[in-house]
Amino acid sequence: MTGPCPRTVQPVAATTNKAPSANFSLDIAISLEFSTFITQVGRTNTQEIHSIVDARCLRKYTQSPMKTVFSGIQPSGELHLGNYLGAIRNWVELQNEFFCFFCIVDYHAITQDYTPKEMRGRVLDMATDILACGVDPEKSVLFVQSDVREHTELCWVLNSVSQFGDLSRMTQFKDKSQRQEHNINVGLFDYPVLQSADILLYKGQFVPVGQDQVQHIEFARRLARGFNTRWGKVFPEPEAKLTSTPKIIGLDGKAKMSKSIGNTIPLGATDKQVRKLLAKAVTDPQREKREDVGDPDKCNVYSLHGFFSSEEDKAWVREGCTTAGIGCVDCKTKLGDNLIETLTPIRNRKKELLADPDTVIDILNQGRDKARQSAAKTMDQVRKKLGLWQR
Ligand code: TRP
Repeated sequence: MTGPCPRTVQPVAATTNKAPSANFSLDIAISLEFSTFITQVGRTNTQEIHSIVDARCLRKYTQSPMKTVFSGIQPSGELHLGNYLGAIRNWVELQNEFFCFFCIVDYHAITQDYTPKEMRGRVLDMATDILACGVDPEKSVLFVQSDVREHTELCWVLNSVSQFGDLSRMTQFKDKSQRQEHNINVGLFDYPVLQSADILLYKGQFVPVGQDQVQHIEFARRLARGFNTRWGKVFPEPEAKLTSTPKIIGLDGKAKMSKSIGNTIPLGATDKQVRKLLAKAVTDPQREKREDVGDPDKCNVYSLHGFFSSEEDKAWVREGCTTAGIGCVDCKTKLGDNLIETLTPIRNRKKELLADPDTVIDILNQGRDKARQSAAKTMDQVRKKLGLWQR
């Protein structure tokens, strides 16, 4: 037992011990502490003892370790609005509630065609943008995948509990294979195993992702279970934590917002560029002329208002659009104003970071060091369970 023993203890509210009582191991820990306490103070006043236990119970409960979140993003260079709304905005929120690892996954990126000379810049740009959006290195661990060797090491181990049939059913593998028929490499096939290694290495419990990644997270769960059954329990089964906006449609109004399709607004776009890109954005296809009425629910620009505009602005657009009181240009101007308001602070932070790239590199190095510590611990457990050679 730590700390001084209270002499007089005020009874604490009855509700305080409700949640902890449901936790079996916590109860055991508390009763152990409790018996030590009685031995030390030699007191058996039941009411007083109950109060003390309640207080301790509450303390333990509120101090219980934070759950771990892991997420990864490919170093595609600059972030765009789709990444921000679908992922990074959520990361920024999660870091207050969870212990977060955020990883720039360059080993995943090499499964697709790329220019090696550009890779470093892409990683750095991505890190800069993530920080500009508000990921805080004081709260979260931000690092680069290839900086921590254990990712590929654990991937190899997990390969031995990955089923060929399971991997061949992955939709993303099928899609990517179609898109790069000239290069259907084994890395592309094994991609979900490396992704599972990313998460499991840090014993990630929650994985914030978009809908398109759920299949991979389910796969990671199967691998965790497969590992634990074959070699003994090491890993928790991770859970996908779907973002509230799992899919952001691009400016073409058709496909998911994606850099490779070119239907995005880059987060670093200037005001002028934002307006220009919005001008091209597809609206309700039925509204061909200014005097036609539109249907906001069929308009992708309206759905973007949903993220950036006040209730009042949205009502104004809805009313104007459905009565042809306003044109698509007016609607886009309003969206542009609101979007620019959100983007301005991000752009300003980005400017500061761009002027000082060493700060970003330092943050990544610190992230690497922290990540390596956790990763080494896990790999130690893994090697023992596997019965691998140890000095
Ligand atoms: N496959 C993810 C994507 O393309 C990126 C990723 C790699 C990831 N490893 C991860 C996401 C681990 C979550 C957890 O979006």
